[in-house]
Amino acid sequence: MNKFAYSALIAFVSSLLTLIAVVWVAPTVAESDARVREITLDELATHNSADSCWKEIEGLVYDVTDFIDRHPTPASVMTQWCGRPSTEGWVDKGNGRPHSQGAEALLDDFLVGYLEGADVDLAALNQSINEAAVDASERTATGTEGQGVRYRDGSYYAEAEPGSRGTFGIIEISVQGNRIVGVYFDEFARDEDGTVNYRKSADMNYAERWRRVSGGVTQLSTYPAYERMLIEQGVPEGVDAISGATGAHEAFVGLAAQALSDAR
Ligand code: HEM
Repeated sequence: MNKFAYSALIAFVSSLLTLIAVVWVAPTVAESDARVREITLDELATHNSADSCWKEIEGLVYDVTDFIDRHPTPASVMTQWCGRPSTEGWVDKGNGRPHSQGAEALLDDFLVGYLEGADVDLAALNQSINEAAVDASERTATGTEGQGVRYRDGSYYAEAEPGSRGTFGIIEISVQGNRIVGVYFDEFARDEDGTVNYRKSADMNYAERWRRVSGGVTQLSTYPAYERMLIEQGVPEGVDAISGATGAHEAFVGLAAQALSDAR
C-alpha cells in the first residue's frame, strides 16, 4: 500500500471510530442527570474549607460540609481533606481501617458529581441516582403527607430516664412546614451538679466494643442513619431497624414518638 492510501485508510478508520464513539457515548452524557456533573480539580480546590468542603473519593465528588459537625473526630480530621482528592483518607482512617458500610451509605446523600477524567460508569451512576430519587418521592408520598399527620412548626425535645449506667437518650426534632427538617439523637450522662459529662456519639471506646460484637456496626454511623430515615419517612414507624443496632432503634423510635406527640 502506498503512503497516501495508507494515510487515507488511517483517516477513514479514525473518523469511523470517532463516529462510533459519538453515537455510543453522546446519549449517555446527554441523559446524564444535572446532579452528576463533571468537576475539575480547580473547581474542587475552591471548596477547601469548613464553610464549603468538597472531597473526591474514588472518582466521585461529595459536598460534606454539613457532615463536619457530625463526624466523630475533631473537625480538623475532616477539614484537612476539603478541596482535595481524599480516597486515601477514606480508605484508611489513620488506623489502617477503612470507613464502615454505614459510613459509605451516608456518602450517597452528599454526591455532587465526578472528577474530570475519573473512570466512572456514568450510565450506572445516573441510574442509581434516578432510582434513589424515585425512592425518595415514594417515601415522601407515604411520609408526613401520606400518613395524614400534621406537625406544628417548632423544635421538639424528649429525654429518656437514665438507665443502670446513668446514661439517657435524648432527641431533638425540628419541624418546618409539616416536614421534619432536622433530627439529633444521642445518649448523654450528667455528673452530680447536672453538667453533661458524657456523649455517646463521641465515645470511641464504646464504638470499638460495639464494632467487635456487631460485625462493624457502631453508633457513629447508625445514629446518623436513624436520623436520616426519620427525616425521609416523616414518622417514627417508618424508621427501620439496622441489624446490630436494634437497642438503639428501640430507644430512637420511642423518643421520636414522644417528642413528636408534642408537635401534633
Ligand atoms: C476523607 C477524609 C476522612 C478522614 C481522614 C476520616 C477519618 C475518620 C476517623 C479518624 C474516624 C474515627 C476512627 C474510627 O472510626 O475508626 C472516622 C469515623 C467515621 N467517619 Fe470519617 N473520615 C473522613 C471522611 C469522612 C466522610 C466524608 C464521612 C461521611 C460520610 C465520614 C464518616 C465517618 C463515620 C460515619 C465514622 C464512624 C465510623 C465508621 O462508620 O466507619 N468520614 N473517620
